[in-house]
Amino acid sequence: MRTLIKHVLSSQVPIPQLTIAGWVRTRRDSKGFSFLEVNDGSCLTSLQLVVDHTVPGADQLPQLTTGASVQAEGSLVASPAAGQKWEMRASSVRLIGAADTSYPLQKKGHTAEFLRTIAHLRPRSNLYGAVFRLRSRLAFAVHQFFQERDFVYVHTPIITASDCEGAGEMFRVTTLKGNVDEKPEADFFGKKAYLTVSGQLEGETFACALSNIYTFGPTFRAENSNTARHAAEFWMIEPEMAFCDLQGDMDLGEEFIKAMAAYTVQHCGEDLAIFAKFVDKGVLDRLKFVVERPFVRVPYTDAVNILRQSGRAFEFPVEYGVNLQSEHERFLTEEHFKSPVTVYNYPREIKPFYMRLNDDGKTVTAMDVLVPGIGEVIGGAQREERLEQLLDNMKFHKLEPKDYWWYLDLRRYGTVPHAGFGLGFERLLMFLTGVPNIRDVIPFARTPGNAEF
Ligand code: 4AD
Ligand code: MG
Repeated sequence: MRTLIKHVLSSQVPIPQLTIAGWVRTRRDSKGFSFLEVNDGSCLTSLQLVVDHTVPGADQLPQLTTGASVQAEGSLVASPAAGQKWEMRASSVRLIGAADTSYPLQKKGHTAEFLRTIAHLRPRSNLYGAVFRLRSRLAFAVHQFFQERDFVYVHTPIITASDCEGAGEMFRVTTLKGNVDEKPEADFFGKKAYLTVSGQLEGETFACALSNIYTFGPTFRAENSNTARHAAEFWMIEPEMAFCDLQGDMDLGEEFIKAMAAYTVQHCGEDLAIFAKFVDKGVLDRLKFVVERPFVRVPYTDAVNILRQSGRAFEFPVEYGVNLQSEHERFLTEEHFKSPVTVYNYPREIKPFYMRLNDDGKTVTAMDVLVPGIGEVIGGAQREERLEQLLDNMKFHKLEPKDYWWYLDLRRYGTVPHAGFGLGFERLLMFLTGVPNIRDVIPFARTPGNAEF
């Protein structure tokens, strides 16, 4: 039975007999013995093997080069070398798979751009190993957060006929050949179908039955924006709460981000250290700050006034009624407030049909959470629960009520105030690690012009 290197390195006592397996990071040869640095991805640190040239398998040492896979038996002993507690004295080694000199991860210090071209190998590097271990732990933390609070996990469909956000940024799913718009009723589903942009509408139906629910799954946007924070395929977390208003929604969003930051500090310490070293020196301080301090909350109108009075020459000029751009969001959170900020009550025109109209008749109960380095990480709202008003919203946004008959039924039968939000999992990971590009926190990025792997 092999032991994961993570468990080997955290041992409190020497181990007389163990087996490990992994990939060779480096080999150094001395007179009579060689050192092998072996990493199996279970943790950041590699295990140093001391291989005497007389042990079985030592004849394979010339092939145990960077990138080769290896298995070894031996004992764990205190290391005389500085900076490491343990090393392994091999009693035998075995080459499993060789890697010749064309192995692309020979040297350290490759650029993120180059590593994207070898996304199938980059998890074997220190930084990306850390990113994807953290991604896994955070996915667990997301479920833990909601399960501990009695939220029910709902699997909303990936293929859908409704455009939740109304932005027309959907990927069509079809089995038709030729002109796919000619006879949609002849298509596989008997109508036009798409990859979902959000599980919210279906999530609302479950919240209006099970009270508190969440979704956590892939979503898709055919948005042609080639930025560091947009991907065509990304994972979204969408809680939805019955008997909840905008205030409760903002509270949950804030509590959730704080909990994820606290979890990262508590459980991902070793991996965080490498982000601090190579991507973002201030990452730990930032996370602690986020855990400790309340977020700023500001109505959209005030946010616009702050931006207008900032004296900044923004690329996109600001006035009441415009959508906040990334540069505006980042000014608010990074420079003006120096804190995560929740902006709420946006103009009706720039937000989707499902948001609740405020008594002023002009704004809706939207809320976006903005964080330093990213901008928007959460978008949410209290939903319009009044049938007549929802129908009016649909007319305002030029939507066909018959396409949303089942969504309208929620307002016909036992309607309740309810609210929820969507959080982009990759944007959260960028925030927690300081990794500045969304392409580097998702295993295989899908962006305009790019679906390799
Ligand atoms: O603000 P959005 O569009 O909101 C919704 O989809 C709502 N239906 C959510 C809800 O209320 N249940 O998207 C939510 C979040 C954004 O704040 C952002 O973090 C992320 O999803 N997001 C993206 N992440 C990566 N790439 C993209 N193209 C993204 N578009 C949105
Ligand atoms: Mg949004």
